[in-house]
Amino acid sequence: MDFKDLVRARYSARAYLDRPVEPQKLDLVLEAARLAPTAANRQPFRLVVVSDPQIRADMKAAYHRRWFYTAPLIVAACGVPSENWVRCDGKNYNDVDVAIVMDYLTLQAADIGLGTCWIADFDPDAVRDILHLPADLEPVALTPLGYSADEPKAKQRKPLDRLVVHNRFS
Ligand SMILES: Cc1cc2nc3c(=O)[nH]c(=O)nc-3n(C[C@H](O)[C@H](O)[C@H](O)COP(=O)(O)O)c2cc1C
Repeated sequence: MDFKDLVRARYSARAYLDRPVEPQKLDLVLEAARLAPTAANRQPFRLVVVSDPQIRADMKAAYHRRWFYTAPLIVAACGVPSENWVRCDGKNYNDVDVAIVMDYLTLQAADIGLGTCWIADFDPDAVRDILHLPADLEPVALTPLGYSADEPKAKQRKPLDRLVVHNRFS
């Protein structure tokens, strides 16, 4: 898909078909995530791909929406802050790195007809517990991954003149 069309085609899918994701399609999505840029190329992330029905059902304790835990796959995007590049003022860019990985993943998914939905409003302790995350991993975002049974809504976005400043603020 043309990039202009792709950014318009991706949307938050909040209903999924009971249809498995082909392994080749999952590979494409994960490969896009792997190619995402990260600060100083540290690649400080881990993706946990949950296909096991019992573990997906357990994920209800982390985020209770049915469309989330019944999707054929769940991806947990985790940062590794200890591996991350840190700016001179101490700012750790781990969330930024994981966000870029998520965006590559979600856009690649959209390009091959798969639905995703960024989820940040989850219980991180439940995710740590259910997925047996090592202590140095921080769950940053979750997404279901599968064939959408949802319809995209019109994008509600602020106009550019409220989002962009040319040269500097007056
Ligand atoms: C960082 C982030 C966190 C989000 N967390 C949630 C969430 O917890 N639950 C949810 O249903 N949607 C969540 N969303 C989806 C947004 O609501 C959605 O992207 C936004 O309304 C724009 O709609 P669109 O993705 O369909 O274009 C999140 C999106 C982002 C980028």
